[in-house]
Amino acid sequence: MVLDVVAIGNANVDIVMYVDRIPREDEALEAYDSVISAGGSASNYAVALARLGIRCGFIGRVGDDSFGEFVKREFEKEGVDISRLKVDREHPTGKVFIIVTKNGARRMIAHRGANAYITLDESDEEYISRAKLVHAASIRRELALEIAKVSSKYKITFSYDPGLVVCKYGLEELKPIFSHVKILYLNLRELECLTGSKDPESASKLLQYGPKLVIVKMGSKGSYLVLSEARIRVPPYKPKKVVDTTGAGDVFAAALTAGLLKGLSLWDSALFASVAAGLKVERKGARNGIPYEREVLSIFKEVKSKLEKELIT
Ligand code: RIB
Repeated sequence: MVLDVVAIGNANVDIVMYVDRIPREDEALEAYDSVISAGGSASNYAVALARLGIRCGFIGRVGDDSFGEFVKREFEKEGVDISRLKVDREHPTGKVFIIVTKNGARRMIAHRGANAYITLDESDEEYISRAKLVHAASIRRELALEIAKVSSKYKITFSYDPGLVVCKYGLEELKPIFSHVKILYLNLRELECLTGSKDPESASKLLQYGPKLVIVKMGSKGSYLVLSEARIRVPPYKPKKVVDTTGAGDVFAAALTAGLLKGLSLWDSALFASVAAGLKVERKGARNGIPYEREVLSIFKEVKSKLEKELIT
């Protein structure tokens, strides 16, 4: 199978509770809604790419249990290639319990299970070597370094969304990974962890470590793209209502990748990504809320033409 992108990372089952407030100790609180869906940052990214018309494969690990079967079926339904998804006989499928409050903000408790044991073998390496881009999200540092080296060996773009846990190791520790990264995704907390500042411009410090493009995801404030010769500030697409922000960053990264692979300019790709992430936020569930190409494209065209009309009347 010819693939454009290989995503590597967590494959979870998300159990999401929608509540008015966080329960107190010993309190049994009624949720006003709930969703159970497949999740995991890299998995959501892979599904978002598939919904945007990009051929994507996934490398990960699920348990030998009904949750693992569910995760597999959900991938197959979306057309993501899971020929390299392994089944772990000793550890269960990863599960994440997510609490979403009325403002759409989320809190998560994760049991990584089989996700903690993802490894790469020769067949995985060969699989990655056939893609144009390999994306890793929220994985162990050691695995990220392995992927980084494979990407350089085969001259494939390495796109990396380390997540806060890995960013806490600090820049010096992450240097060997970052030296292979082309596109780095960070939110403001992760940026602060690495650079000591929440100022998006501080991302420019990271360019000397390897990345050619650092993308700072600022949620409702849009995104800031840092390259050695340029800066691009992209406005957010304001959702009609903020319902659930879970997975919005995964959708943003996927849509930006999709835009670039479809030949859009970097600015257009980032605007396309803003729209996709904004649409996700309007909907419940990290997975169920991922938008499809047609809807993203139609709103993207509207937003772009409105922005351009404001310049030339
Ligand atoms: O990025 C969102 C994802 O993070 C959720 O789907 C959940 O599984 C957690 O890993």
